[in-house]
Amino acid sequence: MILVTGGAGFIGANFVLDWLNQHDEAIVNYDKLTYAGNLENLASLKTDTRHIFVHGDIGDSQKVCKMLAEYRPRAVINFAAESHVDRSIHGPEDFIQTNVVGTFHLLESVRAYWSGLAVSEKTDFRFLHVSTDEVYGSLAKDEPAFSETRRYEPNSPYSASKAASDHLVRAYHHTYGLPVLTTNCSNNYGPYHFPEKLIPLMIVNALAGKTLPVYGDGQQIRDWLYVKDHCSAICCVLEKGRLGEVYNVGGWNEKANLDIVHFICTLLDELRPRTDSKSYREQIKFVTDRPGHDRRYAIDARKIGRELGWKPVETFETGIRKTVQWYLDNQRWVNNVQSGAYRLWLEKNYAERDQ
Ligand code: NAD
Ligand code: TYD
Repeated sequence: MILVTGGAGFIGANFVLDWLNQHDEAIVNYDKLTYAGNLENLASLKTDTRHIFVHGDIGDSQKVCKMLAEYRPRAVINFAAESHVDRSIHGPEDFIQTNVVGTFHLLESVRAYWSGLAVSEKTDFRFLHVSTDEVYGSLAKDEPAFSETRRYEPNSPYSASKAASDHLVRAYHHTYGLPVLTTNCSNNYGPYHFPEKLIPLMIVNALAGKTLPVYGDGQQIRDWLYVKDHCSAICCVLEKGRLGEVYNVGGWNEKANLDIVHFICTLLDELRPRTDSKSYREQIKFVTDRPGHDRRYAIDARKIGRELGWKPVETFETGIRKTVQWYLDNQRWVNNVQSGAYRLWLEKNYAERDQ
């Protein structure tokens, strides 16, 4: 079997669902269930014995070691992290704790387990670390997209903590020979995306008749990938990736934030028109920018294409339509994640941005 950490979050849950759709191999899913972890994402697996959920923190070495000894996975895929840039600005400590200290403890636990394996199991074992393009910092307008050799220049507490975790993973390969793989992916979107991030927040706010808060001038560029394409890239790297290598993952879909918001409004105007027949664009509001806001991310995904034959299935147009439709069809999921804690976050992040 394989073990995933953070499998109750956005990408992890999509990965678990897709994996069990495509393989018979069981998954142990180890997750702390922070505000971002939601077992409702995995409700369809309730009676599926191939999915084993274990509640815990990647920093809890005793628990992780016990679990590794009990389930003896052939691979560990590390999704667990604090993942939201704005939260890292308001409170960086959790990011250091989970993304840096937690990844360190996880690496130590995995190293101890791996060291005790028989030779053939040891050779076949993999530790795949899921990381982000944000570790490379911000691109100027005409600069080439991030390749795997780009210098690390993280600018937010989130990206700095992910950069630190990437360095630790690399060091465990070079120093101890741990068979690691790292993926650095661009911004994901799709089902089960927590509505604190741009795309789900805009869909959810639009439908609730709330404002659509665009930071600064809305001309910051992100490179968007449909989450299921990210999951297929991870499977591909797990199966065929060369040990110790880094693979950048992206869909060649650079878009300015304001264009994304316009796209969502146009789709909602078509699929769920406002009762007053006006466009959802009326709800757009420019608000105070994020401090240290990275201007542009773009991924050069040629290495994973050339070496491993991976390519995305969805275009932005097909992926965003599926996503908007998913939120329209899953209003109950949306209502359930909008708990008291979620409302407190919105107050904290947006009240002070009102201009
Ligand atoms: P998410 O915030 O939706 O989910 C994170 C999950 O990790 C949650 O289920 C949470 O409960 C769990 N978790 C947090 N701290 C933990 C801990 N200490 N121990 C165990 N579990 C813990 O994040 P996501 O968007 O699904 O991202 C998953 C991974 O992919 C992260 O490592 C992130 O850096 C990376 N990534 C995300 C994106 C993106 O666009 N969302 C892009 C590239 C890379
Ligand atoms: P986000 O989804 O938080 O991802 P990241 O910061 O990791 O790229 O934000 C994507 C972009 O959208 C980013 O440039 C910030 C911007 N943004 C807004 O303009 N308004 C918002 O309310 C949010 C959450 C993000």
